[in-house]
Amino acid sequence: MLQKPRGTRDFLPDEMERRRLIERRMREAARRWGYREVSTPDFEHLELFTMKSGEGIIQEMYVFEDKGGRQMTLRPEVTAAVLRMYVNEGKVLPKPIRWCYFADCFRYERPQKGRYRQFWQFGVELIGADTPSADAEVVMLADDVLRSTGVAFDLHVGHLAPMKHLLADLAPGDQRAIMACLDKHDTAGLEAALVEKNLTHLAEPLAALSKCRNVSEVFEIAGDIPERARIEEIFSLLDSQDIDYRPDFGIARGLDYYTGMVFEGFAKNLGAENQIIGGGAYRLAHLFGGDDVASSGFAIGFDRVVVSIGDFPLVDEPIVGIVCTPEARARALDVARAFRGAGVRAEIDLMQRGMGAQVSHAAKTADFAVILGKREVEAGTVTLRDLHSGKQQERSLEDAIAEVARHGSC
Ligand code: HAM
Repeated sequence: MLQKPRGTRDFLPDEMERRRLIERRMREAARRWGYREVSTPDFEHLELFTMKSGEGIIQEMYVFEDKGGRQMTLRPEVTAAVLRMYVNEGKVLPKPIRWCYFADCFRYERPQKGRYRQFWQFGVELIGADTPSADAEVVMLADDVLRSTGVAFDLHVGHLAPMKHLLADLAPGDQRAIMACLDKHDTAGLEAALVEKNLTHLAEPLAALSKCRNVSEVFEIAGDIPERARIEEIFSLLDSQDIDYRPDFGIARGLDYYTGMVFEGFAKNLGAENQIIGGGAYRLAHLFGGDDVASSGFAIGFDRVVVSIGDFPLVDEPIVGIVCTPEARARALDVARAFRGAGVRAEIDLMQRGMGAQVSHAAKTADFAVILGKREVEAGTVTLRDLHSGKQQERSLEDAIAEVARHGSC
């Protein structure tokens, strides 16, 4: 038996319905903030991601050569693609641009619970606003989108400036290596890197920064850095809206394009792979031939949110099984069409089963049977049987449709 590729999943109808419902809530929340949906290709030129996305993601990419000899990759994330699209088509649009997306991403990772090779992200990119209000909006929107799904989470908000200030004298490569350890909370790796690079004097301030949960303390550790006023304003805006977050200046983010405010969120009930959102302020457009525009955004790990929420009862919209004799088939097709026209799901026998077998099948798959025999065809009626109570009654088609529709949100 052939199996699906490692790190991918199949979704049966119940799970797809749950996923679509959660997805809809996310889209609707973003829409209320003025974010409009965009879509980019599943694959891009490799260099789009090698320019600035960071070592981690590059090693994880699904890279291939197309028939024209071009180096391509399945997208490992959507931000770079959206900024490429902005440079190609969006530069003339009035700013700020508020875009959102729901897209599958591909990363060649070691699969485990909550970590897949194909996974979905719901994300937003806010392009062209370089203000504390823009930074705060993205965090507030993230909070709203996550809340709309019902997932229980902790939000950590930080800023890269204090950490970068501490690491300011380091060569860019060393800075990246240290930040990668901080991002992965790899204390042993961090210690080894600091010893190797003769930077042990940074161990204490870096540890203090990671532990610091109070905005004013940050400047005691990192000094009175130029970004202080901006950082304070971002946090005071979040406080003004009672956003439930924790300041966290240990956030380093794995992707290389971030420039300022950064944030991450964690599902309360998940294990090792509990990070359900990551985002922040960044600059990418200038690398793709555009203006050096400030942007910020986030991406939610949709699959992890779904796992965290768990199973929940689906809205039970009724389904009708149309049961008919061979002679009544044309009438049955008309009746099915009338139900569907009223928004009710209707299925018709395709197996040439007898009437009894059709009713038994409907009892397994439907809520109502609509029975069409010789009598009903001649009288222009239908017999409607409630398959849960067993009660049945001959009625006009209109009455039957109204009766079924009453049971659901049709
Ligand atoms: P990221 O942190 O790489 O950020 O990914 C965002 C989220 O995608 C993660 O927090 C996680 O929930 C989910 N995720 C990542 N890898 C996997 C995986 N293998 N399986 C399941 N879920 C996964 C970005 O991608 C940035 N583009 C976010 C951003 C948007 N920054 C600014 N704008």
